Amino acid sequence: MNKVRIEKGTTLCRTRPCMIITTLHENGIVNAGTFGSYTNAGPQEIAIAIGSSSHTYTNIKRTGEFVINIPHIGIAQALEICGGNVPITESELDKANLTTEPADEIKTPIISECVANVECKYWKELKVGYHILVLGKMICGHLDKRYVDEDGSIDVVKARVPFSIRYPSPIYAVLANAD
Ligand SMILES: Cc1cc2nc3c(=O)[nH]c(=O)nc-3n(C[C@H](O)[C@H](O)[C@H](O)COP(=O)(O)O)c2cc1C
Repeated sequence: MNKVRIEKGTTLCRTRPCMIITTLHENGIVNAGTFGSYTNAGPQEIAIAIGSSSHTYTNIKRTGEFVINIPHIGIAQALEICGGNVPITESELDKANLTTEPADEIKTPIISECVANVECKYWKELKVGYHILVLGKMICGHLDKRYVDEDGSIDVVKARVPFSIRYPSPIYAVLANAD
């Protein structure tokens, strides 16, 4: 893994690019879902609005853990695949041609091709209409060495991470410096 380990802070998620959450199904297959409605809620805390009928929510409740994976625009197609309905006997990651590697502190694997990964434990939740606002606590994170900016955060311009500026029928955008 050509990534530096980040112990502190949800700085990887502060800027809110689209993310792919990996969780484990009961059968051991890795589930991957796309999420864009979230915010960092503290230095180690993150709040994500997750549909109550999603595999992601079911798996988080059963296992108590999940991984946030931040893609780059080159693999943005994976956001569409992981945003679709895939049965629990298959992994979205196979369809998206993505691979995994073990996490440091939890059983759920991280996506190798993503520029950043945050290992999280379930903390608590709040029902908000159809969605459940799931609060997680970051255990540790990994950030591609090429995209660490001067204050240790992810350089979202250099990493070309996709943001979803419309949903449904998402349009994905990357940021650029003004100069
Ligand atoms: C760009 C994008 C953003 C999305 N954001 C969210 C979100 O914030 N919350 C949510 O519940 N679903 C969101 N979805 C829809 C889920 O990805 C979709 O329901 C998916 O099937 C969930 O996967 P799962 O059942 O494997 O957990 C988003 C989809 C896309 C393509």
